Amino acid sequence: RDIHRFRMAVRSSAVSVAPIFTKLKHECATPLPLLRHVADAMAADMRAGLAVDGGSDLKMILSYVDSLPTGYVCIYVYMYVSSGIGVPCHFDPNSLGGKQERVIDTEFEQVSIPQELMFGTSEDLFDFIASGLDKFARKEGGKFYLPSGRKREIGFTFSFPVRQTSIDSGILIKWTKGFAVSGTAGRDVVACLNEAMERQGLDMRVSALVNDTVGTLAGARYWDDDVMVAVILGTGTNACYVERTDTIAKLQGHDSSSGRTIINTEWGAFSNGLPLTVFDREMDDASINPGEQIFEKTISGMYLGEIVRRVLLKIAEAGTFGDSIPEKLSTPFVLRTPDISAMQQDNSDDLKAVGSILYDITGVESNLSARKIVIEVCDTIVKRGSRLAGAGIVGILQKMEEDSQGLIFGKRTVVAMDGGLYEHYPQYRRYLQDAVTELLGLEISKNIRFILLQNRQGKTRLAKYYVPLEDSEKHKV
Ligand code: GLC
Repeated sequence: RDIHRFRMAVRSSAVSVAPIFTKLKHECATPLPLLRHVADAMAADMRAGLAVDGGSDLKMILSYVDSLPTGYVCIYVYMYVSSGIGVPCHFDPNSLGGKQERVIDTEFEQVSIPQELMFGTSEDLFDFIASGLDKFARKEGGKFYLPSGRKREIGFTFSFPVRQTSIDSGILIKWTKGFAVSGTAGRDVVACLNEAMERQGLDMRVSALVNDTVGTLAGARYWDDDVMVAVILGTGTNACYVERTDTIAKLQGHDSSSGRTIINTEWGAFSNGLPLTVFDREMDDASINPGEQIFEKTISGMYLGEIVRRVLLKIAEAGTFGDSIPEKLSTPFVLRTPDISAMQQDNSDDLKAVGSILYDITGVESNLSARKIVIEVCDTIVKRGSRLAGAGIVGILQKMEEDSQGLIFGKRTVVAMDGGLYEHYPQYRRYLQDAVTELLGLEISKNIRFILLQNRQGKTRLAKYYVPLEDSEKHKV
């Protein structure tokens, strides 16, 4: 039906676009058996990664977070990848007694990381983070400083793969998401930040290092005891979950009194059975980490817009947008995921907004039929990504269910979601949810709740409230 609609749309405009589009649709299709295969492969890769280090694409990193908060007290430095550093802060430990007193004061600020620092030296990057924190602390004033020269302890959320050696140390395995800072890989990122804070004269030290997924899970659990999984769908993507320590063969000499620990899957590196196209392969080849983070490159915000741009360029070459190809359309990463989301929100008959976004960003001039093609391309790439993300989540739940017999699917289980892609792209959210429902069936999927951890707009990092997507009713906790 899609192909038919598409043919109708381009009948008068394109010369040979139909074969490109037919092929794209075909190669990006995510029918149920394919999703099942991806979910099963995710579960199998998780097991292999838990058995031995390097056992699969998934690193299955120990977080050293073994007990989940009933009170979470720290100043929380949140380094938000690619676009900035957020510095939400939690004050007043004494008010964090029982569950009734959960409201904590939170301040938030977002600072962009300048592009050149993504390719600079480790010292420069960490100096920038420390100085951002310093400015923030000064602005907030006395709340930050402890009497008698004691150092304020801070939590550090670092959104990259780190081999943790304890709760307050960890070695950066490699950069992801387009970062190529020299001198950090192989180093303890806590030491990097502590040293930078010392250079800055800041009286603070890091006492907890967490991946952003782990911060999301811990933050969400603070409000809801049924949270078992956290997923980031933003610039990059990743998931973590609560694992039983007795199922982790590679865990030696790490005692957890709770019998549980959070595992950071680093699922962005997953690659098994994904439906990829020539556009994905070419984008990967041109990336700074070819062959790596394939799941991330297929489903996350940094890449969806770029995949669409590559398809549009190919379509432009077929003459759809006139005789010449605008130079801007040939510029890598010029079309961003928020742009394709904005285009997909245009419900008008003439698709005027699509036309102007397209023109402003890529220089492409389009008539109505060309705009329809563009929307179809966006939808194809976004649907594939979101459905695969849904399959990944089901893979994690499936693995947990197999080990716990009924404790995941047989009761309310909450998946905490965070990240701009999930937050701001309604179609992405809907397709993801549809894929989960298709895979699990209606009955079980009713037990699986997705909650969005509000941060940037919601002003708070560790959520004060969630927006359950199904109910669209705001629960203030
Ligand atoms: C990338 C990082 C991972 C992070 C994710 C989401 O995949 O490797 O550590 O959690 O992005 O920010």
